[in-house]
Amino acid sequence: MSYKYDICIVGGLGHIGLPLGIVFASKGLKVCLQDINKDSAEIVSRGELPFVEYEAEPLLKKTLKNGNLSISLDSQSIAESKNIIIAIGTPVDEYMNSRTREFLEFISSLKEYLNPDQLIIIRSSVAPNACEQIKRTLGEGENWKLSYCPERIVQGYAIKELKKLPQIVAGFSDDAVNEASDLFQNISSSIIKTTMQEAELAKLFANSWRYIQFAIANQFFMICEDQGVDYNKVRKAMVEGYERASQLPSAGFAAGPCLLKDTMQISSFYQGGFLLGHSAMMVNEGLPNFLVNQMKSRYELKNRKVGILGMAFKADVDDIRDSLSFRLSKILKFSGAQVLCSDEFANNPEFVTKEEIVEKCETIIIAAPHSQYADLKFLDSTDVIDIWKSNPQ
Ligand SMILES: NC(=O)c1ccc[n+]([C@@H]2O[C@H](COP(=O)([O-])OP(=O)(O)OC[C@H]3O[C@@H](n4cnc5c(N)ncnc54)[C@H](O)[C@@H]3O)[C@@H](O)[C@H]2O)c1
Repeated sequence: MSYKYDICIVGGLGHIGLPLGIVFASKGLKVCLQDINKDSAEIVSRGELPFVEYEAEPLLKKTLKNGNLSISLDSQSIAESKNIIIAIGTPVDEYMNSRTREFLEFISSLKEYLNPDQLIIIRSSVAPNACEQIKRTLGEGENWKLSYCPERIVQGYAIKELKKLPQIVAGFSDDAVNEASDLFQNISSSIIKTTMQEAELAKLFANSWRYIQFAIANQFFMICEDQGVDYNKVRKAMVEGYERASQLPSAGFAAGPCLLKDTMQISSFYQGGFLLGHSAMMVNEGLPNFLVNQMKSRYELKNRKVGILGMAFKADVDDIRDSLSFRLSKILKFSGAQVLCSDEFANNPEFVTKEEIVEKCETIIIAAPHSQYADLKFLDSTDVIDIWKSNPQ
């Protein structure tokens, strides 16, 4: 069969789909970014990024111009493509359970555009055994070529990382694995073939492992603070010239759309038995409260002017999804503080500039350590809370 596109990325204008599509198109493949977000479609068609993605804009402009990259709001584009990569969001519900049923309904809705000659690649993060359910949803009788190729990039740096990282490839048939490997060989440094279940767990374990590492750092930070000891000095003493401790992170807000979610996906799959994951959640999600309690032990928060620098979930990106800065702001307001928020990348009409925060606030918390804050000068009278500082690496 002949197709108009080599690849259709469903959810192609999101944080995962867009850089992936750009990188494939930059290697000469004909890529269609299929999505439902009209605003993003308009922005991307102009050659601009709807979010911070370093090094992507020149490649986006080039691939739009040479015709390798197209944007479509029409599901029919799926039927016109040889390889279908699914990269839509897969959030968890309010009880932290995977919303697998909604994802399966979405897969079911695609069936009218699919045929067994196409290769279907799941790129979205899924719960363990979800790919087996996707296969059943598509219909066991037909010979679907279904593959799972998880994304493991650090958000904002996909263009650099996609070329550098090995690609895990799993599939339900040799054809699916071989075709997915051939496709990713265009952009990945190497291919690691696994079973479906191994790939699902490898993806989730990787993020849980990082989430637990951040939690141990945050727990150590809290212990140090309670003892009046500087955690960053302890950490420096631990890691300097001592390879075995080198992965210990600095303290800081561990949030965003993936780490907690993937940890909780394992938890719901393992029926609440993922005790380390739960403990990590309590420590990481409890950090804003810990900071506020520390402040309360030093001064009255009622009517105190408190500024939060960095509302994104991490440094130097504009993504506010699941950012702990908002939880911090809520707890402070609940304690009676007057809170001003600022960010260098994320836009919100309620945010103020960093200069206004420096000028007006009696307490300033660096919640996301954007580069722009490194050289900020604060008034001597200001209580500056920067748990990220003196990172020795
Ligand atoms: N953001 C990350 O760093 C990261 C890293 C690894 C894996 N993941 C996983 O990748 C998946 C996507 O995450 P994301 O951060 O790119 O999400 P996102 O919200 O940025 O992007 C999802 C895109 O899917 C589109 N979409 C939603 N419903 C659609 C539909 N019915 N048809 C077509 N398009 C539709 C949205 O408009 C959006 O553009 C998730 O499963 C996530 O867990 C994300």
